[in-house]
Amino acid sequence: MNRRNFLRATGAAGTVAFFAATPVAQAVAGTMKKSELMGFEAIPISTADTVIVPKGYVADPLISWGDALFANSPKFSQSNDSKAQEMQYGDNTDGMTFFPISDTRAVLVANNEYTNNEYLYPHQGENISADDVRKSQAAHAVSIVELVKKDGKWQVNTEGRLNRKLTAYTPMEMTGPAAGHDLLKTKDDPTGTKILGTYNNCANGQTPWGTYLACEENFNGYFAASKEVELTDEYKRYGVKEKDWGYDWWKHDDRFDIAKTPNEPNRFGWVVEIDPMNPNSTPKKRSALGRFKHENAAMAINDDGHVVVYLGDDERGEHLYKFVSKNKYKPGTHSSNLDLLEEGTLYVAKLDGKEGELKGNGQWLELTFGKNGLTPENGFNSQAEVMIFARKAATHVGATTMDRPEWVAVHPDNKHVFCTLTNNKYRGVKDTQPVNVANPRVENPYGHIIRWEPKGGDHTATDFDWDLFVMAGNPEVHKGLMAGTDNVNKDNMFNSPDGLGFDAAGRMWIMTDGKYSNKDNFAGMGNNQMLCADPKTGEIRRFLTGPIACEVTGLTFSPDYKTMFVGIQHPGEGLAPSHFPEGGNAIPRSTVMRITRKDGGVIGA
Ligand code: FEO
Ligand code: CA
Ligand code: CA
Ligand code: CA
Repeated sequence: MNRRNFLRATGAAGTVAFFAATPVAQAVAGTMKKSELMGFEAIPISTADTVIVPKGYVADPLISWGDALFANSPKFSQSNDSKAQEMQYGDNTDGMTFFPISDTRAVLVANNEYTNNEYLYPHQGENISADDVRKSQAAHAVSIVELVKKDGKWQVNTEGRLNRKLTAYTPMEMTGPAAGHDLLKTKDDPTGTKILGTYNNCANGQTPWGTYLACEENFNGYFAASKEVELTDEYKRYGVKEKDWGYDWWKHDDRFDIAKTPNEPNRFGWVVEIDPMNPNSTPKKRSALGRFKHENAAMAINDDGHVVVYLGDDERGEHLYKFVSKNKYKPGTHSSNLDLLEEGTLYVAKLDGKEGELKGNGQWLELTFGKNGLTPENGFNSQAEVMIFARKAATHVGATTMDRPEWVAVHPDNKHVFCTLTNNKYRGVKDTQPVNVANPRVENPYGHIIRWEPKGGDHTATDFDWDLFVMAGNPEVHKGLMAGTDNVNKDNMFNSPDGLGFDAAGRMWIMTDGKYSNKDNFAGMGNNQMLCADPKTGEIRRFLTGPIACEVTGLTFSPDYKTMFVGIQHPGEGLAPSHFPEGGNAIPRSTVMRITRKDGGVIGA
């Protein structure tokens, strides 16, 4: 099909295929064909404290918070100290990538986003000591774990040479336009290029040259002020306040006290590129990709070789971004690609359309110093400042406010891109976030998934067409927009889509981070879950349900797509009654699950 006309053509044909979410589709609701892409039987919701997968599938734990990363790692105990935690798998598992080395050897790189005081410490966060902070900083990590295929199963290899733990105090290097800028300089780092650590890495990305991208998200929640400070507009826009979110790092680590280290917040909120195959490599923060609350980094190699990275900023009313590399990807030549993310152009999305149509067109607006009014008279003095305060630049150029952009995923046909917009209680409530064409529901409690196609299938193009692939909702409770689109029904209800990824066959996997009360507006949705969608037919089927009070997040596959790895994050958060995965009286622990088929087949097929 002529891709340029794909959006129009499928709509004109009146099929449910592309416009599953639009009035066109609703007119033909009920004619939806059963997907041939998905071969598993959908499962019902669950409120049980376990992971449930379809008939013929097996789910078992691969690695949990506190499990050994090294042969000499101490055994897990809630009272482990920081030294022990440095040698163990981190907490709150999130985005991850499987990097194959051979048929029987691989590396799993995974983010450990944050910690929960109620489980991290036996004292649940009362009087956090210096070592407690160090332990928390070691549990916030990117864990690099060697896997070995033994007895037909991928398993952790604690003897692996590549095993490594990157923590909130591992040395990293700042690169790109912001490197060395005054706003990044601190007492301990007068160069503005040598940053200690990465933390609150939510989701991730990977590159075809074999590196991993960790994405720093809610970095603001770790900063506090030991005495009164002026809260600048820039602090405010990024949510840096005089009080932190309860981690207490600032009490024992001056970096996190903005009264003592005012520039430290500027050193977080970046995408970090990590070479998992070189245990001595220094991770690089890529300032050309902008500073915001990064969710993930979804890469497409454009037909002309430019590297394009789609990026969400997960905050109510923030934006959707795109980076285009200056240089081109050269297949097969690893080293020449290693710095492709150092230089390029960042754009932010503006979406237009007719009210009520749930589709339209859009433009990528350039965030380059000197262009689009990003000039000194408007408070932007350099490209470094545009990147460090990318949110302010985005607002200045007229970007569209979105309902919390979470993961972006590029379809394997490499022309269609999807993004989860998880929910937004401020939509239509705050003056700064009026309802708009792409975010059409007041308070959006359920979330939606937007899809776009770059003009001409060219990811570097500034124009695109978009539609809403699905609006989640509850058709048992509501009518109209809150019921969701016609591909949502009583058997596949969910809320707050967050994790998103494709397999090679084009099945789209949706993970949720939503309300699990299973009551009132959320009745019939159960625990957080994973669903599978067929982008062609619009059909969505529930594939996995998580344990009590967890989020399902993090997805990667073995290259044969016969093993799927899925993250179960913070089971039992807030002291909810979970003992996952061990059961008994054990405290719940975030866990990477390994999913296989009993007949050894491809997952989802
Ligand atoms: Fe860490 Fe936006 O989720
Ligand atoms: Ca997320
Ligand atoms: Ca989320
Ligand atoms: Ca989470």
